[in-house]
Amino acid sequence: MNNENVTWSDALGRPLRDLRISVTDRCNFRCRYCMPAEVFGPDYPFLPREELLTFEEILRLVRLFVAGGVEKVRITGGEPLLRRDLPRLVEMVKGVEGIRDVALTTNASLLAGQARALKEAGLDRVNISLDALDPQVFARMNGHRSDVRRVLAGIEAAEAAGLQVKVNMVVQKGVNEDQILPMARYFREKGPILRFIEFMDVGNSNGWDLKQVVSKGEILETIHQEMPLEKIKPNYYGEVADRYRYQGSEREIGVIASVTDTFCSSCTRARLSADGRLFTCLFATEGTDLRGPLRGGAGDEELLNRMKAVWSRRRDRYSDERHTLTEDLPRKQKVEMSFIGG
Ligand code: GTP
Ligand code: 5AD
Ligand code: SF4
Ligand code: SF4
Repeated sequence: MNNENVTWSDALGRPLRDLRISVTDRCNFRCRYCMPAEVFGPDYPFLPREELLTFEEILRLVRLFVAGGVEKVRITGGEPLLRRDLPRLVEMVKGVEGIRDVALTTNASLLAGQARALKEAGLDRVNISLDALDPQVFARMNGHRSDVRRVLAGIEAAEAAGLQVKVNMVVQKGVNEDQILPMARYFREKGPILRFIEFMDVGNSNGWDLKQVVSKGEILETIHQEMPLEKIKPNYYGEVADRYRYQGSEREIGVIASVTDTFCSSCTRARLSADGRLFTCLFATEGTDLRGPLRGGAGDEELLNRMKAVWSRRRDRYSDERHTLTEDLPRKQKVEMSFIGG
């Protein structure tokens, strides 16, 4: 295998650094902005088990991605903790030479029971979705699948296990904007970094409308009036969240402004779907099949060439271009968020 670790560069000069791996397209929540229950109902054709990459197949691809420059891996879903034996995958991925950070994005409903095993397997960090502290608002947003206490227990268990925790809150106008301040106050006190996410037009099912976006500017203004903020530097090149510190304190928040302050120019992320397709953008329509060649007996060199060719051709900058799209244009058929893991 080619082990020179030369970072691949895409057609716009962006290096490959991060790999987001979806391990299942299923979720036990039905967040309206992601998997509305009327679309993802009992008959929804989720992937059958044999179509999912096995952990061994994922591991083989991760090793090859490292040769292209990947050093950070994030495990996603759907809800990744629904995948049986996930700590085993974490251990396998963490053991790959060249991988320095393994993280997980989860709704935390199943985290309390698994946090310790995940940490022991080598997991570094966990990002937990929580959109409201108010029980009714939260239940409405997740399709009445979980209560807040369960998620808070997951957050506490993750911290107790020694995992670095961030909390992700998607903000939707008229739905949970009244939760911005309660969430900010709560997590300022408790510790985990809270990140506010602008509602995005991912997939085709969430009924996105620009009018439902609460902008980064509005979010910051709301918090700043009560708890003054100052901007701080990114942790790493291409970080999606802009960071702010509460003045006079070490506590911070983040804002992910994929609508009003886009970050495609520094996007170093590749995405692997649970059925083994390589996507070069969260808003992509198509992925490149890697499972076929993998199961068809392709050698490492052949797989590497295929992966490198995909990255070299990459020109995606959907968020940057969004503003040029008009309502009259036919809607692009995008991959669903729950399929690609955010
Ligand atoms: P960190 O490594 O902790 O910075 O993780 P992250 O923020 O990259 O990952 P996470 O899964 O927590 O994602 C937080 C939000 O950012 C989600 O809404 C993601 O969909 C969004 N996000 C992550 N990467 C991208 C991206 O490349 N493009 C866009 N538009 N949104 C992204
Ligand atoms: N807009 C913004 N963020 C979203 N997420 C899911 N759907 C959307 C959307 N439409 C978030 C989840 C999770 C992360 C993976 O992506 O809340 O925190
Ligand atoms: Fe599940 Fe996360 Fe999508 Fe909610 S946002 S439905 S928890 S995958
Ligand atoms: Fe990267 Fe696509 Fe997101 Fe832009 S819209 S930051 S190219 S994943």
